[in-house]
Amino acid sequence: MGQVEYLAKAVAALPCSGQAGKLRQINAQNVDFSGFVISTDPPYYDNVPYADLSDFFYVWLRKGLAGVYPDLFSTMLVPKQEELVADYKRHGGKDEADSFFLEGMTTVMRHMATQGRADVPAAIYYAFRQGEVDESGFSVKGWATFLQAIVDAGYSIGATWPVRTELVGNLKKNKNALATSVVMACRPRATDAETISRIEFIRALRKELPDALKEMHRANIAPVDIPQASIGPGIAIFSRYRAVIERDDKPMSVKTALQIINEELDQYLSSQEGDFDPETRFAVSWFTQHGYEKGAFGDADNLARARGISVDDVKHAGIAESSAGRVRIYKREELEADWDPASDRHVTIWECCHYLLRQYEQDGLSHATGLLLKKLGSDKAEAVKDLAYCLYDISANKRKDAKEATAYNALIADWTELTRQAAAIHDTSGDRQIRLDI
Ligand SMILES: C[S@@+](CC[C@H](N)C(=O)[O-])C[C@H]1O[C@@H](n2cnc3c(N)ncnc32)[C@H](O)[C@@H]1O
Repeated sequence: MGQVEYLAKAVAALPCSGQAGKLRQINAQNVDFSGFVISTDPPYYDNVPYADLSDFFYVWLRKGLAGVYPDLFSTMLVPKQEELVADYKRHGGKDEADSFFLEGMTTVMRHMATQGRADVPAAIYYAFRQGEVDESGFSVKGWATFLQAIVDAGYSIGATWPVRTELVGNLKKNKNALATSVVMACRPRATDAETISRIEFIRALRKELPDALKEMHRANIAPVDIPQASIGPGIAIFSRYRAVIERDDKPMSVKTALQIINEELDQYLSSQEGDFDPETRFAVSWFTQHGYEKGAFGDADNLARARGISVDDVKHAGIAESSAGRVRIYKREELEADWDPASDRHVTIWECCHYLLRQYEQDGLSHATGLLLKKLGSDKAEAVKDLAYCLYDISANKRKDAKEATAYNALIADWTELTRQAAAIHDTSGDRQIRLDI
């Protein structure tokens, strides 16, 4: 009954009423999209064998409803031939299944791009399965093939936006279930679109990506979603052109474009480290190599000198300890109990970030966490957020430390709420005064 009630609630909440919708069972390749505003949730490569699954229910529904809907139940089992899915068993091999999917999907998308309304972008969904996304957030064949179909069909992709659509509890826990979905906003590519070279593509990425990524950081997009979201501005550049030509005069594939976008994203994230204070930059490099483990003093000394400071400076800043020729960064639980940025004579962004994160881990979106953020002031708070993005990337992708990565992700995911709490505090002297915004 839970499922029934759940669906009934969703139907009751639908904004439309009065006008009846129209439903037709038709192969998508034969649809005339003229005058349509398109929002579609197409099949995702080889993710779900819908037709096979449907048979399980179809045979029972057919018994009861064949007399009511004779057209819908005219076949013994559900149609399989036309299903746009890369099923290697049905198509006699992986390559054949891949071509079937790519060609069929491109045909549908081409009809959508040429016949659909051009004044409204088409919204196309893609759902990722857990395990389909590699550590950089870019995935294996399905995603690249899907994007290739959209681009080949004559669409230019203006944005890619991650959306959480799936409940992950109960049945889906620990299963290879859908993880996140991405919505792509697509418009027909300009008919006079130019062709550019690989170098020009990279140049355009370097010019346009940083501002787009800064905008995402400003919007507090959770770090775990950044790789997916950043495909948008990257692939927008790629799909704006008729083609990007490789050195061997062949057109660049979406797969290669995704790799290049990923490299540029990495470079952008590392270049951000340059804006932090030298002690924080030391800690970021040390953390990348050693995490919270001990390392040789000589290595730390080299790292510190390269940043114009000494290991002693890092020690006095309260970030690391150095003894018996070994150096290590303090874990959050080892930091001072009552830290106050106002009385610390040498405040670093590393400390601000870790004291704030410790407070957040201890008691979440509390008054105390909001108060600490308030005490940091807006400039330091912004730098803390940048550092958290950077440490998420290091923990998730370089150190493969999921627990540490989750901590930074959670902090940023709650950042908007945290900033609101901080803004509502007017007295930072410790008095628990909160102004409620109504
Ligand atoms: C991702 S599912 C959409 C799920 C839907 N949004 C929902 O929430 O129930 C993709 C759908 O495309 C259908 N499909 C696959 N090949 C098709 C084709 N050639 N023409 C029309 N629909 C097709 C599948 O049967 C499946 O129902």
